[in-house]
Amino acid sequence: MSKFWSPLVSRLTPYTPGEQPKISKLVKLNTNENPYGPSPRAVAAMATEIGDNLRLYPNPDAEPLKLAIARRHGLSAAQVFVGNGSDEVLAHAFQALLKHGVPILFPDITYSFYPTYAGLYEVDYRAVPLAEDFTIRAEDYLGHGDTIGGIIFPNPNAPTGCLLALDAVDRILAGNSGRVVIVDEAYIDFGGVSAIDLVTRYPNLLVVQTLSKSRSLAGLRVGFAVGHADLISALERVKNSFNSYPLDRIAIVGATAAMEDDAHFEQTRNAVIASRGKMVADLTTLGFEVLPSAANFVFARHPQHDAAGLAASLRGDGIIVRHFTSARINQFLRITVGADEACKALIDSLRRHLA
Ligand SMILES: Cc1ncc(COP(=O)(O)O)c(C=O)c1O
Repeated sequence: MSKFWSPLVSRLTPYTPGEQPKISKLVKLNTNENPYGPSPRAVAAMATEIGDNLRLYPNPDAEPLKLAIARRHGLSAAQVFVGNGSDEVLAHAFQALLKHGVPILFPDITYSFYPTYAGLYEVDYRAVPLAEDFTIRAEDYLGHGDTIGGIIFPNPNAPTGCLLALDAVDRILAGNSGRVVIVDEAYIDFGGVSAIDLVTRYPNLLVVQTLSKSRSLAGLRVGFAVGHADLISALERVKNSFNSYPLDRIAIVGATAAMEDDAHFEQTRNAVIASRGKMVADLTTLGFEVLPSAANFVFARHPQHDAAGLAASLRGDGIIVRHFTSARINQFLRITVGADEACKALIDSLRRHLA
């Protein structure tokens, strides 16, 4: 706290990202990174760009990337927005589309950056409790009329991994035609059906995705949103009042090549999905209760063992997972699905500690 801080800065509660440890030997299963490398075509494109072009500013609209995303989803470039990680896209969306002087809705257990953005942009919100089984109930988001200014939720939700079926997303959209509904699909490629196909039917829908997870490019920081051109142009207005070049040249060429490499995408996401199946089976055998996951992580609790204690034991074995301390979920561990060797290290360590 300092007298030089603005009142807004004094009130902020900044987001705390998962730990990025300095020790290299750790088995890192705490921030939902992909265990496999990005597309070799993306790596080659980035190497060429570094050699040839960094002297020059990037394309301010990241046009080649927008076109690649639009092509993949059968849309036009005017329906695509790109940003420096989906976090930046989400931040702009809070300011551009959710700030209407009435509260927005999001789940009580969800991506913890939402309340942070709400604080930064002074958007009031109501946290809607998840059902007993930790799923989102579509009905809770219906019938509020103009008392709410918008809705945002991840699908699959984080940190639970639970998926909301597309027909339920459809019902939320149909019942909220007067406000924007943002579906944050950071993990959708690991087991859900994207709402992107609903974009042409619903001018109030913004779908946000990232290349950090299923495209293995967390370090590059690229995310995107698709929606009606009017929603995209609101995001562009904020972006162009903030930073003309949020995506650098390396990010534009790397992300474009990654979006075009379907074979690598399919192979790596299927490998993660297969490892998730094995991880869930192994955890269940050890007595864990594992929520049904459509993501590249699982959310699990053990009826007889304290989650904080388990996280500490794992850490003692050089394995880090994420443990949240908020009341409803403080007995859960969120565990990223790693490569098979990392999953085996996790299960071996837990087996020893449970015994
Ligand atoms: C639900 C959700 N949305 C968005 C993000 C942000 O991802 P990125 O900024 O890497 O695109 C994350 C990151 O973990 C997430 O869990």
